[in-house]
Amino acid sequence: MPQREGRSPEEPRVIVPLPDMIPSSSELVTEGSAKVPDASERTEEVLYYWDYLHLDDILSSQRPKSDERGNPVHDELFFITVHQTYELWFKQILAELDSLVSLMGPKHVAERDLGVVLSRLQRINSIQRLLVAQLDVLETMSPLDFLDFRSLLLPASGFQSVQFRLIENKFGLLERDRLSVEGHSYYDTLRADHAELVIESESSPSLFDYVERWLSRTPFVRSSDFDFVAEYQAVVRAKHDATRASLSGSADQLRAFEAGIRKFDAIFDRGIWEAEVLQGSRRLSYDAFMAALFINLYRDEPILQNPYRILTALIDIDASLTLWRQRHAVMAHRMLGRLTGTAGSGYDYLDETARRYTPFRDLFDVSTYLLPRPSLPTLPSSLVSGLDFMNQGAR
Ligand code: HEM
Repeated sequence: MPQREGRSPEEPRVIVPLPDMIPSSSELVTEGSAKVPDASERTEEVLYYWDYLHLDDILSSQRPKSDERGNPVHDELFFITVHQTYELWFKQILAELDSLVSLMGPKHVAERDLGVVLSRLQRINSIQRLLVAQLDVLETMSPLDFLDFRSLLLPASGFQSVQFRLIENKFGLLERDRLSVEGHSYYDTLRADHAELVIESESSPSLFDYVERWLSRTPFVRSSDFDFVAEYQAVVRAKHDATRASLSGSADQLRAFEAGIRKFDAIFDRGIWEAEVLQGSRRLSYDAFMAALFINLYRDEPILQNPYRILTALIDIDASLTLWRQRHAVMAHRMLGRLTGTAGSGYDYLDETARRYTPFRDLFDVSTYLLPRPSLPTLPSSLVSGLDFMNQGAR
């Protein structure tokens, strides 16, 4: 920032014209306007860095309880700063999620919007990586240092982070997948207005819902001369038959092989897939999953490259959240040992959330069903030219 003269908060602000912001006189002439202001008459307030960022508010919001009690503990300011930084980044993630929902909400997601969708997802992931790394900073505080002020913050807990709950819900975590703590729902410890916000977010469509709808609408999966699901099933069945024939001598090997390919049952039979969705072991609809598989298998086709990157970014986000949960659980273990946290749960609960809270797990599972490129069903030339949109003008 450029140097400027010091000014007391009471001092009036300097008002100067901003030449580059002054429109030309022709721009200023409007119907019925009596006078075009002269450039020298137009003034703008010079914005001051401190005011623009509202640093008076932000920097006066770290108020350690230990200071209030007249017995300051050095690490409490640090603890508050770390948490507030998390909450600021949570706010930014929520803004990105809300913008994604409005981009993906309409019935048709415009091809030109896919680049923006991708860059917002990637931004969320970059922030998440920062949030994981920030736990290193927090760990410069020892468990004994934490004990110096821990009793002062009871019973407040990160468990009550409303923004974190909104992120989970807007991302697509379902209430039915959540663990209860001592028989209580996660919003029981929230203030009434916060609980209301969180409950409302549970019933609003999530990023998961929009991604599922977008995938289900993927064109090219079935066209007049190509039915991807039928072609894919035929190739996989032929592969399985060939392997089965090569094993026919050994009953043990055959049994192990049949058990191994059972995970394909749901791919071959929509009814089995839908039963698994009902029972909770799968989440994406059959059509959305098969579209995700198609995009992964044919991702080299120009029109599928952005959709493929979007699916990868969603996996990255899910993986980073899991990583944060695991890292936070390990950190909580290190700080508290086997003691419970201020909300009454501890390491085991946190560790279990890392395993279970993965809304986009079906996208990870796509890898189970990949085929090597040479085995892929050949796409008809009409479809290939549809997918190769970049070169359409050249034909
Ligand atoms: C000394 C540092 C920390 C310790 C010892 C700690 C410990 C815990 C524990 C034990 C829980 C389980 C709930 C409970 O019983 O309270 C929890 C939950 C939680 N904490 Fe922390 N935490 C720390 C720092 C942080 C930070 C910096 C954040 C960032 C916002 C955070 C966010 C959360 C969230 C979001 C939950 C809820 C997790 C869930 O229910 O899945 N914690 N924490």
